[in-house]
Amino acid sequence: MKIIMLGAPGAGKGTQAKKLATKYGIPHISTGDIFRANIKNGTELGAKAKVYMDQGLLVPDELVVCLVVDRFKKSDCEKGYVLDGFPRTIPQAKELDEALAKNGDAVEYAIDVDVTDAEIISRMSGRRACVGCGATYHVKSVPPKKEGICDVCGANLILRDDDKPETVEKRLKVYHDQTQPLIEYYQAKGILKSIDGSIGLENIFKEIVKIVEA
Ligand code: AP5
Ligand code: MG
Repeated sequence: MKIIMLGAPGAGKGTQAKKLATKYGIPHISTGDIFRANIKNGTELGAKAKVYMDQGLLVPDELVVCLVVDRFKKSDCEKGYVLDGFPRTIPQAKELDEALAKNGDAVEYAIDVDVTDAEIISRMSGRRACVGCGATYHVKSVPPKKEGICDVCGANLILRDDDKPETVEKRLKVYHDQTQPLIEYYQAKGILKSIDGSIGLENIFKEIVKIVEA
């Protein structure tokens, strides 16, 4: 099962990708999470990525594609994977297609979670992320049991640097300019499925399950 989650920043890609990964026993591959782990561990890749991420810009394609293609080589990817935040540009999508085609493979579903810009801005300001394990919460819609503390690992919850309002606006613009064209790209391939992202977490998940089990 090879799934791509599409959607604006804050649309809920990560939330749904984690649920899919758990249900189907496939890895959740988030390029954003990979970069944040690299930043936390002080790697060279992390230092390079941080410069772009903090400004709400995309990390250059050449730093992203090899990372993902390499990740596919791990044995846990044999049954498939759910990609979250990749591809994010047309060149990334084309490189992904080429890399998969070498093994006679292709993406099966591109699932777009559609949310208005106004809703995105409200979600991002309420999102809290765990500094320990990366789990995400929302102060209103997905609150932790104890305020400011992760249910999973007990570490502190923070507002991500790039979730500050001025950066969110920039990320939305970058999304509309560089990532939204992927919707047409996957539509032309006949694998695009669009879901209304305002129907609540569990309903969105049910819709996705219906699509992949159809
Ligand atoms: P990344 O980490 O991928 O950020 P993003 O795309 O901006 O997406 P988010 O993680 O912010 O949102 P999400 O859609 O996962 O939403 P979530 O489920 O958390 O990337 C960060 C940066 O890394 C990029 O800006 C870029 O610089 C770089 N990067 C990464 N990949 C790259 C690539 N391929 N190429 C180049 N650069 C790359 O949900 C959001 C909030 O809403 C949460 O609080 C959640 O609890 C809540 N929520 C979720 N669903 C619902 C719902 N249905 N109803 C109400 N609340 C909900
Ligand atoms: Mg995410």
